[in-house]
Amino acid sequence: MSEINAKEISKQANDLGTKIIEEIDKDNLHFTINNVNYNIELYTIDNLPTTLFDKLFQILKTNMKKQYQAANIGWNQKKKIKEMKEKDAHYLVVTTDNKEIVGFLYFQFSTEMDMKDVEYPVFYIMEIQLVKKVRNLGIGKKLMDIGEQWSKLHKFQRLMLTVFLKNKDAYRFYEKLGFVPDEISPSQCLDPEEAKEYDYEIMSKMVE
Ligand SMILES: CC(C)(COP(=O)(O)OP(=O)(O)OC[C@H]1O[C@@H](n2cnc3c(N)ncnc32)[C@H](O)[C@@H]1OP(=O)(O)O)[C@@H](O)C(=O)NCCC(=O)NCCS
Repeated sequence: MSEINAKEISKQANDLGTKIIEEIDKDNLHFTINNVNYNIELYTIDNLPTTLFDKLFQILKTNMKKQYQAANIGWNQKKKIKEMKEKDAHYLVVTTDNKEIVGFLYFQFSTEMDMKDVEYPVFYIMEIQLVKKVRNLGIGKKLMDIGEQWSKLHKFQRLMLTVFLKNKDAYRFYEKLGFVPDEISPSQCLDPEEAKEYDYEIMSKMVE
């Protein structure tokens, strides 16, 4: 795939904005688990209300601040907020019928370079975060399935994400969904001694 193609594919998907939610089957956006009704809505950074952003950020902070502090990258709130407000940011937000916000998936239609410096389009999962009480109910998988559907529809052959090696629960969740260490991950492209310096893995999943 040529570099122009990769950028063009990613631009076309980004240009569709929130319209892409119409491509997803309603049953995947509205569902009931243990008698609680859940709804998934899509926002881009341009139409995400500030109050909602703040709530999503709180979920991330509650879940992850300690893990960031323990990692090489450290916790830098300003930097994290900036990353979460990047121009191509898209948010799938999960709420209950009584409007409680219980989680989100932050993604970007982006591009990445392979080991031969060839650029390709990638569906990048920047964050997936659920509050504790709704974990292990299948909601994380539903969010990732939506990403996979968009990847197929918009010709993004690869979904990608970064996970702390110490975040074993998330690592196993991704493995369960078919993600494997990507060729650009330190564990794959560096010799073992060098790779030891890195406390994260870049994982990816190819789709047809
Ligand atoms: C990681 C997270 C998004 C997973 O979402 P979830 O809704 O709890 O996961 P699901 O219930 O959809 O699980 C999907 C599958 O993964 C498996 N799975 C989930 N967590 C697992 C774990 N810790 N170990 C092994 N398998 C796991 C489930 O058993 C399920 O398999 P099945 O389809 O065969 O039943 C969620 O737990 C979370 O928000 N964690 C805290 C924040 C975090 O660490 N985010 C990731 C940052 S990189």
